[in-house]
Amino acid sequence: VEKPKMPYNLIGEKKLSMLVDAFYSRVSRHDLLAPIFPEDLTETARKQKQFLTQYLGGPPLYTEEHGHPMLRARHLPFPITEERAKAWLGCMNDAMDEVELEGPVREDFFHRLVLTAHHMVNTEKPER
Ligand code: HEM
Repeated sequence: VEKPKMPYNLIGEKKLSMLVDAFYSRVSRHDLLAPIFPEDLTETARKQKQFLTQYLGGPPLYTEEHGHPMLRARHLPFPITEERAKAWLGCMNDAMDEVELEGPVREDFFHRLVLTAHHMVNTEKPER
């Protein structure tokens, strides 16, 4: 059954896919983020498309293939500082600009990502 009010249906599979590609293109060029990601982001992007599909109310593609997301636990191997969370969100904001995701659907989506990103922070910024 179609659920037209789900953000996934408002954004659509094609734009979500373009968004994730635009996002990881920025991540791969970011000084703070690139070092903690794999060199080849093909599989990372594939999983993120699956995850964001279900996060936005679409079919549970991520869970079907990988089980419960347990996102915080899956991020524990990587040192995620407040600074990296801001960088991640900056890449996402710029990617949303690039694919021209606009309006309330963008605002709601981005706001949820801000909360999720801060939930991933697991490392204090090292003292300098
Ligand atoms: C995987 C970093 C926030 C969703 C990863 C990986 C890294 C990472 C290094 C592993 C990539 C790989 O091995 O393929 C970060 C950083 C964040 C952040 C620095 C800053 C806060 C988020 C947020 C979400 C998210 C906000 C969701 C809204 C995912 C997913 C995966 C992933 C779905 C794949 C998990 C899997 O391997 O199955 N992230 N992440 N991440 N991240 Fe993040």
